[in-house]
Amino acid sequence: MSNLAERQVAGFLNALRRLARQVGLYPEGHPATEEAIEIVAQAAHELLGDDGEVALTIHQEAFFRNRIVVPHASLEYRGLLQEMQIRGVDSITMVPPISRADLFDLAAFVGGASDDLPADGTILLNEPMTTDPELEPTPASRLRASYGSTLDAVRLASSALVARGSFELGTVVDAVEGLFEHALAHPGAALLLSTVKSHDEYTFFHSVNVCILSLAVGQMVGVDRDILVPAGVGAVLHDIGKVAVSPSTLNYPGRLSDEQWKEITVHPQEGALAILAAGGPGSEIAANVAFEHHARFDGTGYPGIRRGGIPHVYSRLVQVVDTYDAITSRRSYRRAESPSRALQILLEGAGSAWDPDLVRSFIRMMGIYPPGSILRTVDGAIVVVVAKVDEPGSPLPSMIVVDRGGAHLPAPEPLLVPVERIAEQVLPEDVGVDPAALLEHITEDVAV
Ligand SMILES: [Fe+2]
Repeated sequence: MSNLAERQVAGFLNALRRLARQVGLYPEGHPATEEAIEIVAQAAHELLGDDGEVALTIHQEAFFRNRIVVPHASLEYRGLLQEMQIRGVDSITMVPPISRADLFDLAAFVGGASDDLPADGTILLNEPMTTDPELEPTPASRLRASYGSTLDAVRLASSALVARGSFELGTVVDAVEGLFEHALAHPGAALLLSTVKSHDEYTFFHSVNVCILSLAVGQMVGVDRDILVPAGVGAVLHDIGKVAVSPSTLNYPGRLSDEQWKEITVHPQEGALAILAAGGPGSEIAANVAFEHHARFDGTGYPGIRRGGIPHVYSRLVQVVDTYDAITSRRSYRRAESPSRALQILLEGAGSAWDPDLVRSFIRMMGIYPPGSILRTVDGAIVVVVAKVDEPGSPLPSMIVVDRGGAHLPAPEPLLVPVERIAEQVLPEDVGVDPAALLEHITEDVAV
């Protein structure tokens, strides 16, 4: 279902919900009620568009517009959906021109203020449907499934490497190809999904996030698919050599001893060797990424690379997003930084640690407040940025998750936040908000 159609359904349900509450408080003819009816009429008009009629149906706990599921609105207006079910309303069919009296009667009936049904014949309840609606997987559900398969693939590769000393690259390639298709079809959702963190399984989630972001920025700067997919495989496996490093060293919460540092610095070679041993198409590119992911733009880092001084372009790309995701993740030895702070750190190291052109491209893709940023507004509400703005300074497409009184909203509500209304950035653990949980609520795709 298109985002516009979803927004139209949401707009109608929002207006209907408001009117249903209104009619319980004020009678027909009261200015407040009249105004609310006008808003529903307008929303119904937009929902109808050029169609002769439109049916909103409840099926399997979800709203359908005609026969297509509306996943976002189904979650957001779940309360209204349940009220309708209690009143025995399974579908609302609207035939233009819709009468205002029918809209009033519909809202009064759904809200339980009256048992009168719409009588003008422009709104019909529980019309039999000619066929059952078919449930369609949503972009969010497909993207989530793809994220899950990639996570499984890297977890499997890692455990195989530990158990047998080798792994199959094919499973990882298939997973990355799936992620590539879904992430590029829905880049906004993909960027939000890439904020998923796991403290317990940091490396696996971090690897998948780095893969998503590498594919997105690689696509943006025009890297060929033939290179980008193997580079994505390298991105998702860049730290697989960490299986050779003891967990006590990996998670050591203080300054590393020389011995521990030496142990850590073998992981790029270990990873590259394991990928080369797995073999198959693209394995050299993937191995290069693993080998070079800590080799800096200015020739510092490890292992020392002397071939012309700098790593391959796709490795430099993975370095930028690897750094970004690492900085925005909480680790045992430090807290997470906000997305904006991470971008600032990248900018400070552009030209020395990181390729300055790729840093700039990455920032352009992410925006100043990347999707997943959690902001406190000047009136104290907490919002999550869910899409990127194209024009710097434009209001941020967000979801409000905590109201200004400090209460978590049962269903997050979309909100455009003007930049001047932002008081500060906050971190997920400080406010108990998981940006990636809002995936189902995204209505705007980001063009990258
Ligand atoms: Fe690493």
